[in-house]
Amino acid sequence: MTEWVSLIRDVPDYPKPGVVFKDITPLLADHSAFTQVVDELGAGLAFDKVVGIEARGFILAAPVAYRAGAGFVPVRKKGKLPAQTFEANYDLEYGSATVEVHSDAFAPGERVLIVDDVLATGGTANATVELVRRAGAHVIGVSVLMELSFLSGRDRLPGLEVRSLVTV
Ligand code: PRP
Repeated sequence: MTEWVSLIRDVPDYPKPGVVFKDITPLLADHSAFTQVVDELGAGLAFDKVVGIEARGFILAAPVAYRAGAGFVPVRKKGKLPAQTFEANYDLEYGSATVEVHSDAFAPGERVLIVDDVLATGGTANATVELVRRAGAHVIGVSVLMELSFLSGRDRLPGLEVRSLVTV
């Protein structure tokens, strides 16, 4: 197991009683750990743009893009992007949510790597894949820092290379 894993902190009873939250802020605060994680998320993959998913996905996706000489594209929660967008809905535990991407964010056929902090149910990542495809680009993979495998999120991303650096 990679050394940086110990810098992911368990916070009990957040955001609600009975839930143990996996807090990555100690890892982000450690230069060596942060650098290793950013390198591993994009290593060996060929892409033109990196999509980061609001909000914690931005923290990881932007340096992956910078490191690889690729562009960065934000996928944001509804109402935050100023220009014309595509939107996609996904289910939450209670209710649903909507994410958006600018409709002109990609050139046709561009290769896109999607980066986020956590893959849980896969709803957010699945909606993001749909957005990238609607915007005319090609998803080459989904890279996440942490996968909560008991929620089977990768089952919602069939046919895609899903890379997780640590599985819980
Ligand atoms: C978290 C996480 C992922 C998503 C994973 O985001 O950062 O984006 O949930 O869950 P899923 O696989 O079940 O869809 P959250 O909506 O909490 O947003 P935040 O990063 O702004 O806190």
